[in-house]
Amino acid sequence: MPFPASSWTNRRRHAILYTARNVVIGERKGPEGSAPQGNEVMKILLVNGPNMARLGRREPGIYGTRTLPDIVAELRGAAEKRGVELVDFQSDIEGELVRRIGQAQDEGCSGIIINPGAYTHTSVALRDALAAAGIPAIEVHLSNVSGREAFRRVLVTTPVCRGMICGLGAQGYLLALDAFCGGAVK
Ligand code: DQA
Repeated sequence: MPFPASSWTNRRRHAILYTARNVVIGERKGPEGSAPQGNEVMKILLVNGPNMARLGRREPGIYGTRTLPDIVAELRGAAEKRGVELVDFQSDIEGELVRRIGQAQDEGCSGIIINPGAYTHTSVALRDALAAAGIPAIEVHLSNVSGREAFRRVLVTTPVCRGMICGLGAQGYLLALDAFCGGAVK
């Protein structure tokens, strides 16, 4: 097969999960859309924080006109093509985000893609949750937070993430997914 045989290690369960590319290209035996046989499917948790449910109507000049369901549907489609299961969660409430992140590893998730919204700049609780998650996270922001107000340059959650993508709109989520699928983050 043309793709490198990179693997994904879930540290807690000590299971080897093959990358999406291996699953789709080399290992998928079932009919289109069915779960691959013989390998576990990589599961990624997508978390969106406060005010993200209002995308589409919320400051479209900054965040664009696409709604969150539209963005999630596109990402889910991209994940399916790569043989990855996407679990998505949105909340405006800090504690709910903390709890969801804390459950991710036990649910078999291998990574987290998170747009913490404004909590990026303020939340020690979310930072601690990401640091304790036991699985890597990639932070995504639709806007270029470094080119906006000074308070958005304070990044509380970002340092405990493996990387951060900002300023590329919804494409940032797709790039984060590819970083997990391609083995750049494990
Ligand atoms: C945001 C940037 C944050 O500063 C802001 O509070 C948001 C959205 C983004 O995606 O660009 O809510 O996370």
